[in-house]
Amino acid sequence: MPHIAIISASVRTGRHSHRVAMYFKKFIEENKSGTAEILDLNQYQFPVFNERLKFQPSPSAPVLDFANRIKTADGVIIVTPEYNGGYPAAIKNVVDLLYDEWFKKPIAISTVSDGVFGGTQVITSLQFSLWKIRSWTVPAMFPVPKVGEMFDENGNATDKAKTDKRAMTFIKELLWCIEAKKRMSDYQ
Ligand SMILES: Cc1cc2nc3c(=O)[nH]c(=O)nc-3n(C[C@H](O)[C@H](O)[C@H](O)COP(=O)(O)O)c2cc1C
Repeated sequence: MPHIAIISASVRTGRHSHRVAMYFKKFIEENKSGTAEILDLNQYQFPVFNERLKFQPSPSAPVLDFANRIKTADGVIIVTPEYNGGYPAAIKNVVDLLYDEWFKKPIAISTVSDGVFGGTQVITSLQFSLWKIRSWTVPAMFPVPKVGEMFDENGNATDKAKTDKRAMTFIKELLWCIEAKKRMSDYQ
């Protein structure tokens, strides 16, 4: 089964988008789509970027831990809030931190807001940065509008059937890219 790392990108006190990360973990496990873990940037509390991991003489244990989890994950989901039309600094911090670990990594992006547009303005900027770092962003969206109404604090969807249907389409696209990459691995 593929292993999926879910990056929870909000480090804000009282954040709501973490609910979506919890939901995906449960969804993936419930549907036996793979194994899943949350990489919580609020738990890691990385300092503001000062150099790429590969050029750090003595990287910290949390940095090495994060890098290893990205490297070994078959696919990644980034759950990101929209802040002033862009993604939070915490996610750019870790995009810039790593290099080889992102290479051809299938990544699905879920954008979150408390407004009606579901954080969709984040997509182009985040996707561009991930393209620059040579990862593989999958052509699927999972925008979450009004996050506080759509998910409770334990990551349960208010309308589970409807949300699960959307999540299945999103996850299937990620799984397709994971499988395609596996089949192409001899050619890299
Ligand atoms: C600094 C800041 C800027 C924000 N800018 C936007 C925005 O541009 N568009 C939007 O829909 N929501 C915006 N929001 C609201 C977030 O969408 C909301 O906080 C949501 O719950 C996701 O972020 P969270 O995980 O930090 O809670 C902003 C919130 C903060 C803290």
